[in-house]
Amino acid sequence: MISEMFLAMCRTSPAVKKNLWKGMYQAFALYTRNIEGKSVLEVGSGRGGGSNYIKRYLKPKKIVGVDLSSKAVKLCNKNYAGDGLSYICGDAENLEFEDESFDVVLNVESSHCYSAMPSFLSEVKRVLKKGGFFLFADLRDHDKMDILYKQLESTGMNFIKEKNITPNIVEALNTDSNRRLEGIKAFTLSRLFKEPFKEFAGVKGTKCYEWFRTGEVVYKSFVLQKV
Ligand SMILES: C[S@@+](CC[C@H](N)C(=O)[O-])C[C@H]1O[C@@H](n2cnc3c(N)ncnc32)[C@H](O)[C@@H]1O
Repeated sequence: MISEMFLAMCRTSPAVKKNLWKGMYQAFALYTRNIEGKSVLEVGSGRGGGSNYIKRYLKPKKIVGVDLSSKAVKLCNKNYAGDGLSYICGDAENLEFEDESFDVVLNVESSHCYSAMPSFLSEVKRVLKKGGFFLFADLRDHDKMDILYKQLESTGMNFIKEKNITPNIVEALNTDSNRRLEGIKAFTLSRLFKEPFKEFAGVKGTKCYEWFRTGEVVYKSFVLQKV
């Protein structure tokens, strides 16, 4: 419940997204080092900006974004698809790819939507080549984090790195609070709506902000390797 509310807020904030991306792509750069010529799958590619970023700056041979939403896939193909970059409709829990067909699988802020996380993880392991990397970032309520750990451990993949990137979120919220408050003041005519909008936007002092500041909701990134 807490994490669902945060997700809505997160989608509204370029600063939050930027900080999440920063953490994830740093991990990407560090652990795959040189991915030129490699094959990458992004599961839950959403609006496609992440895959586009990777294709432009890290030069894999190909990157495929998969998303359940046909509208998102259509938009991505219109905005970004090109040489070595494509987007297709598909389900994270039933990926339509051959065994051992990717060097890297990337999954950012999508797994909380899946009905069966173990099915997704089993698919990740299946489509990864031996030695391939699974780069994963998502949030969970603090008291649900141990479930996620057990699920990741049970894949048998090696934990290479994990990082709590919640402080990045808090930093982003701190950075963006004033801008958002100004926006709310300018566009919200009725006092009645101001407080809910503040909450939704996670500005300083709201419950949403406090969940992150106090660690009730935790955002983590992981690098796992198939052995
Ligand atoms: C919050 S968005 C994140 C998008 C992108 N990774 C990002 O960080 O900007 C979550 C995405 O996961 C997708 N999604 C949800 N369930 C899915 C599933 N079972 N298979 C594939 N994609 C799924 C949604 O359609 C949505 O585009």
